[in-house]
Amino acid sequence: VDKLIQRQKLTKEEFIEILKQQDDPDIRELLKEEAIRLRKHYYGTKVFTRGLIEFTNHCKNDCYYCGIRRSNKNAKRFRLSQEDILACCENGYELGFRTFVLQGGEDVWYTDAKLVEIIRRIKTLYPECAVTLSVGEKSYESYKAYKEAGADRYLLRHETADEQHYGVLHPAEMSLANRKQCLYDLKKLGYQVGAGFMVGSPGQSVETLAEDLLFLQELQPQMVGIGPFIPHHDTCFAEKSAGSVEKTLFLLSVIRILLPTVLLPATTALGTMDPQGREKGLLAGANVVMPNLSPLKTRKQYDLYDNKICTGEEAAECRECLDKRIESVGYQLVNERGDAVL
Ligand code: 5AD
Ligand code: FES
Repeated sequence: VDKLIQRQKLTKEEFIEILKQQDDPDIRELLKEEAIRLRKHYYGTKVFTRGLIEFTNHCKNDCYYCGIRRSNKNAKRFRLSQEDILACCENGYELGFRTFVLQGGEDVWYTDAKLVEIIRRIKTLYPECAVTLSVGEKSYESYKAYKEAGADRYLLRHETADEQHYGVLHPAEMSLANRKQCLYDLKKLGYQVGAGFMVGSPGQSVETLAEDLLFLQELQPQMVGIGPFIPHHDTCFAEKSAGSVEKTLFLLSVIRILLPTVLLPATTALGTMDPQGREKGLLAGANVVMPNLSPLKTRKQYDLYDNKICTGEEAAECRECLDKRIESVGYQLVNERGDAVL
């Protein structure tokens, strides 16, 4: 823990030692305080906000944990048109959002040409806004085309950095090696890159989590998304138990210290597991929230896990409620692009 706080490079064994202390209240408190100190040093009390646009729930992949995996025949599939997406941006812009996150399953219907056009149109209409993509594993050439069209950032959680654990979560057609390659490609192309993983996914252990931290230390991403695993009733993991809020908070603090300038969201999954989850996340070192800007008619269909919050205060519409909640823990939501400080 001292080594982490002193910003020295850690080994897998050292990360394991830290993770084993997650139930020690003194260690928890120490890490949380250091996380908050760093977060305040780099970002003050600002909380950045991203408008999340879930534009398709069609997916060619079959990740065992995910509610929109291709073999879930019960999923009601949807796609937003270009006009629908632009309408979300317009609404979001008026609500103060200066970053739009286009997130979807790996849907081949959206060819590179279509995505490029969407990115171009958003960047033309809102040149001061950042566009973040979250559309999965693509070729170097595809990532390059999106970048040239104006995309600024890319979210691709690595899900787990342990080879064997990766195989527990995904069918054999997917590989950790390719996932990592994508992240390095994105970095090379000049994207601000986000990696991340679920907390408490089936088969996760202190050893696999240590691999995750080791990988983050090596990749040095600008963003890291973590949230508790939550079972979805129509998946292989329907009967598995959910990840814990406490453990997620502990890991948020560790990641803030490991990557002091990281953009770290208090995620929807954290808010789903605990009504105060996102506030707790901010108090553990997170500095980003990602309210949902998707049209109400399709929002429920982007059903990654059970009981996903998508109405009321989670929604972007309720900017005022969100402002109040964030102010209640001593922070302020700001209308800025919110790039990572260097
Ligand atoms: N519980 C929590 N998070 C999930 N995700 C997918 N399915 C679940 C689930 N059942 C996360 C994955 C993915 C992100 C978009 O949502 O980590 O990268
Ligand atoms: Fe593709 Fe979940 S399996 S988005």
